[in-house]
Amino acid sequence: MESLKIAALIPAAGEGSRLGRGPKAFVELAGKSLLLRSVEAFQDEVAEVVVAVSPTMLDEAQQRLSGRARVIVGGETRQKSVHRLLLSSDADMVLIHDAARPFVSRVIIKDLISRVQQSGAASVAMPVADTLIEAKSGKVVARELLRAVQTPQGFRRSLILKAQEYALKQQLTATDDAGLVRLLGHEVSLVAGSSWLMKVTTPADFEMATALAFLWDERAN
Ligand code: CTP
Ligand code: MG
Repeated sequence: MESLKIAALIPAAGEGSRLGRGPKAFVELAGKSLLLRSVEAFQDEVAEVVVAVSPTMLDEAQQRLSGRARVIVGGETRQKSVHRLLLSSDADMVLIHDAARPFVSRVIIKDLISRVQQSGAASVAMPVADTLIEAKSGKVVARELLRAVQTPQGFRRSLILKAQEYALKQQLTATDDAGLVRLLGHEVSLVAGSSWLMKVTTPADFEMATALAFLWDERAN
């Protein structure tokens, strides 16, 4: 098998304004921060973990993560934070994962790595369980065709960098990194996601994630 240097890149520079508990990556679930939970999940699977935080959290993050991850300053948007992370690593393959998703398993990380080795770009995604409608008309949207996109997403670093630079030049934005790669016309393969990859966004998500953290910590993940 090819020997590629793999890095995990974790954007964690957001303000957590919808949650309202300060910078979200530093909020704790069952005594452990969202950020540390993600760093620990990737630590043993990759050559390096790099985290982007806001300038005000830099010192604290460096202290808390010393020996586990390299910490850099992020940008004003998620896309800019990811761009800085990409430039700060020389890895051949990068796995980009939001600090807002604290429960990522080794199985998912391994699945993603092998898919990126085959295709150059892959994302976790989940079938949608709820009925989906257009709010105005009430018209049902065929959910069999749809997927909810999660992170981690993995790419050959040269490909995602090219996609980021193309988007910058064309002033295009996408809500996730795989979307930028698709703008280049490159396919992104999909790996089965998990309900555990929930994103902690609102106070209700935080309550659920707190309860789940105790269960998660008892399992081998
Ligand atoms: N993020 C980042 N840099 C930014 C904004 C967001 O690195 N300038 C990161 C967040 O830290 C998070 C991920 O991108 O891990 C997804 O963002 P989101 O869930 O929106 O987190 P926040 O931006 O912190 O939350 P909010 O939008 O409620 O303020
Ligand atoms: Mg945000």
